[in-house]
Amino acid sequence: STLTPFVDPLPIPRVLTPSGKRANPEHHGEQLPFYRVSMREISQKVHRDLPATRMWSFEDSFPGPTLEVQSGQGAIVEWANALPIRHFLPIDHTLHGAEKSVPEVRSVIHLHGGRTPPDSDGYPENWVVPGKSQNCFYPAKQDAALLFYHDHTMGINRLNIYAGMQGLFIVRDPLEASLNLPSGKYEIPMLICDRMLRKDGQLSYPVSEHPDRPWVPEVFGNAMLVNGKLLPYHEVEPRKYRLRIMNGSNARFYRFSLENKKPLSVIGDDQGLLSAPVTVQKIPLAPAERTDLVVDFSDMAGTHVKLISDSFDILEFRVSAKAAGDASPLPSTLRPPLRLDPATAVTTRRLTLDERMDDIQRSMGMLLNNTPWHMPITEKPTLGTTEIWELVNLTDDSHPIHLHLVRFQILDRRRFDQFEYQTKGTLRYTGAAIPPESHEAGWKDTVRADPAMVTRIIIPFEGYAGRYVWHCHILEHEDNEMMRPFEVLAAPE
Ligand code: C2O
Ligand code: CU
Repeated sequence: STLTPFVDPLPIPRVLTPSGKRANPEHHGEQLPFYRVSMREISQKVHRDLPATRMWSFEDSFPGPTLEVQSGQGAIVEWANALPIRHFLPIDHTLHGAEKSVPEVRSVIHLHGGRTPPDSDGYPENWVVPGKSQNCFYPAKQDAALLFYHDHTMGINRLNIYAGMQGLFIVRDPLEASLNLPSGKYEIPMLICDRMLRKDGQLSYPVSEHPDRPWVPEVFGNAMLVNGKLLPYHEVEPRKYRLRIMNGSNARFYRFSLENKKPLSVIGDDQGLLSAPVTVQKIPLAPAERTDLVVDFSDMAGTHVKLISDSFDILEFRVSAKAAGDASPLPSTLRPPLRLDPATAVTTRRLTLDERMDDIQRSMGMLLNNTPWHMPITEKPTLGTTEIWELVNLTDDSHPIHLHLVRFQILDRRRFDQFEYQTKGTLRYTGAAIPPESHEAGWKDTVRADPAMVTRIIIPFEGYAGRYVWHCHILEHEDNEMMRPFEVLAAPE
């Protein structure tokens, strides 16, 4: 039997109010908003006709409550682990960091896209167990953007996030505020993720056929959840709306569009506003990527229009008939354009994305630069310098590659001869360099590295010196060695 679509209204995660103030560790005497956020097991209805689903999330809902801060003002967050001591999803104890000798339930929270000091960044090995807390300082000295927080625990992060451990984090700034973009109820945050739901409404996480090695290379669900609801509807007025979409799936890539093929105006990507709006009909979104869209429903009054991803339904907008006064034009310039000059890079690093095979050519997982997690740190950029990273994809998959701390720009993607690289170690391009698509030409923190392509990004290392990580954001890859530390060295005196 199939479930009736569009019977539940779209929930909007509540914006958390601070539970007090704490001293700013960087500015003596200054007080910052303080939040205490508990990780808990919850039970939540994802659809009218399903029993409530067991999830692990923050406070009382999945997604967790939204945190909202002003750029440069920041916040202090205590992430309190109040989870049970047994996991309900299948742990693979052969994965690095998830051995039988470590506690089953652990958490460490990372603010994705945050320019965060290293000791607050949520290093994957710095987990805590139930009953303990992790204290973080998020200075948020960065542009307005939709960030998100999520678990990052070594070896089990794919399970914790699948269970529900993620939520949105919005940075606001005066430039964004000056643009008169749709706001309040006209700004809709959407965390979209797929999950495999059993008939009884419970989450199922697939396992391999090896009982002591349950890890699977990717997980795709049968249920598309928007803010934790399966196929919800949302009532809108015939006017402009701002849709801020984040892909919270473990492995699924989307390509969003309106079913009626009306245009979407893209105004931002991962790290905030583009320099100018870009009109598209479809918008691709890899795991962890964000898009910021303005949709004008004014010529759809009285109709129902679906947000879809290729052949999947995602959500139904119900556009009311009454005409709303919203003549405000979308600004033609959003922020001053800035393209980084490759000549400013002090170092170019060539880094491969690799697949490991066992002796009968089954995938055992992926690696970055053929180097497992525990090997010594090899990438040590200096604070205040700019580098180019060439991501040489030797696998057959697209990998969304994410670097902590920084924002970067995509220079280009270019086809090369994979076979020649693998046999002789020489990089021979077989196609022209393709510039980034216009909707991903702003500041990014996650980039799609396509198969048989070299993806070049240019990265100013700004913010803080210290140890961070970079990894594939397909969570099954990340948990199985497709993650490496890097260290930002302090600038010489
Ligand atoms: Cu979204 Cu390393 O994280
Ligand atoms: Cu990957």
